[in-house]
Amino acid sequence: MVFLTRIEHFNAAHKLYNAAWSKEKNEEVFGKCANENWHGHNYELHVTVKGEVAADTGFVINAQILSKLVKQFIIEELDHKNLNLDVEFMKEKLCSAENLAIAIWHQLTPHLPEGVNLHSVKLYETPKIFVEYFGS
Ligand code: NI
Repeated sequence: MVFLTRIEHFNAAHKLYNAAWSKEKNEEVFGKCANENWHGHNYELHVTVKGEVAADTGFVINAQILSKLVKQFIIEELDHKNLNLDVEFMKEKLCSAENLAIAIWHQLTPHLPEGVNLHSVKLYETPKIFVEYFGS
């Protein structure tokens, strides 16, 4: 079993806001991230897949194919978007890095070729903080 990681970047706006709470409570819990008028992040996404090395290619997956899938199903959906308003798979969710990583997992996993499985989605919201999701 070999693990292969593809790194991509995207920029997106969001706010963290729980509509069930008062403005004061949102500001208390989410701080600056509750700013009504949005703010942005430069996200860094690490997608790691795993599988056996094919005898005929020496690859777990053709890295160009993985890159194409990540761009088509993830980056195109998220880059230069407002995560709260523009992204179908984030609708009705709190747009935290945690929920975004889970959603990215579910978006990508059905499109991977047979014999290749998603191992982890690691998402940096800033250079100093990231989340990792392993499918459960
Ligand atoms: Ni934020």
